[in-house]
Amino acid sequence: MEKEPTRVLVTGAAGQIGYALVPMIARGLMLGPDQAVILHLLDIEPAAEALNGVKMELIDAAFPLLKDVIATTDVMEACEGVDIAIMLAGFPRQEGMERKDVMSKNVSIYKAQASALEQQAAENCKVLVVANPANTNALILKEFAPSIPEKNITCLTMLDHNRAIGQIAEKLNLHASDVKNVIIWGNHSSTLYPDVNHATVTTTDGVKRVRELVADDHWLNKELITTVQQRGAAIIKAWKLSSALSAASAACDHIRNWVLGTNKGSWISMGVYSDGSYGIQHGLIYSFPVTCKNGEWSIVQGLKIDEFSRAKMDATEKELIEEKELAYSCLGQSI
Ligand code: LMR
Repeated sequence: MEKEPTRVLVTGAAGQIGYALVPMIARGLMLGPDQAVILHLLDIEPAAEALNGVKMELIDAAFPLLKDVIATTDVMEACEGVDIAIMLAGFPRQEGMERKDVMSKNVSIYKAQASALEQQAAENCKVLVVANPANTNALILKEFAPSIPEKNITCLTMLDHNRAIGQIAEKLNLHASDVKNVIIWGNHSSTLYPDVNHATVTTTDGVKRVRELVADDHWLNKELITTVQQRGAAIIKAWKLSSALSAASAACDHIRNWVLGTNKGSWISMGVYSDGSYGIQHGLIYSFPVTCKNGEWSIVQGLKIDEFSRAKMDATEKELIEEKELAYSCLGQSI
């Protein structure tokens, strides 16, 4: 019997990431080659014509898995019955704007979208926030959608996870698929911590630890970390636009692993609601190593954390606590 199509909402769908992401979803890269999809595309009124152009191209591509496309500027209509919500929409920081100004714009965007999701989405809808500041936008969304379980609200750090894998593969002249179990801890920002202490590489001589193969501590403890932390800015400098295809691809990786499960013996990085694991403040949306099974993620427990890692994990936690305070002050609430 044919499976019911999965309804996937993409907000900010007429933007760069949306344009890269929707064909990936329609080709089955997010939910698998036997899962039909219905795309719900949302954007703001000034982007309505562009959004319609995206819809026209999706029709013209005649994707076998794509059963329907709903393109709308009405948030309530967009959220109706969705099983998965990918939040690309956010207010970009513009010249002269303070962090607080961006945050208060995002608070109003996420407030409207959260309550629409809460009223209209399918039960157990899974939410992935991509728009920056992704962790804190996810937290705001959670605040305004109290009936969506907190385990269903996540943010994207697979982009950083994949970036770390890409750097290690290049350094060792291997393929990205040979590298696994890097970790991104914390915030999707320049304080994130790519941890390679548990990462391994499959070589012709078997599985080795990355630290064993890359005998260059300066590269591992400094260059790699800075490269991954600054990669988003480096792409903007080179391409003059924010990363789009790698962000879209990482969003597919995030949802695919979450829905279909992680591979045996490996984990991914996801921004999830902290339960206090590894001493991280309860209630922050913080990136952890997770495994997924039956559509549920769980934080990998019991990893050894050395002093170097601890300091980096604490620094990115501190930034998230500050962002949370700022967000709540924009919400007019006290913590
Ligand atoms: C990225 O990581 O590429 C995006 O979050 C863009 C940015 O500002 O870094």
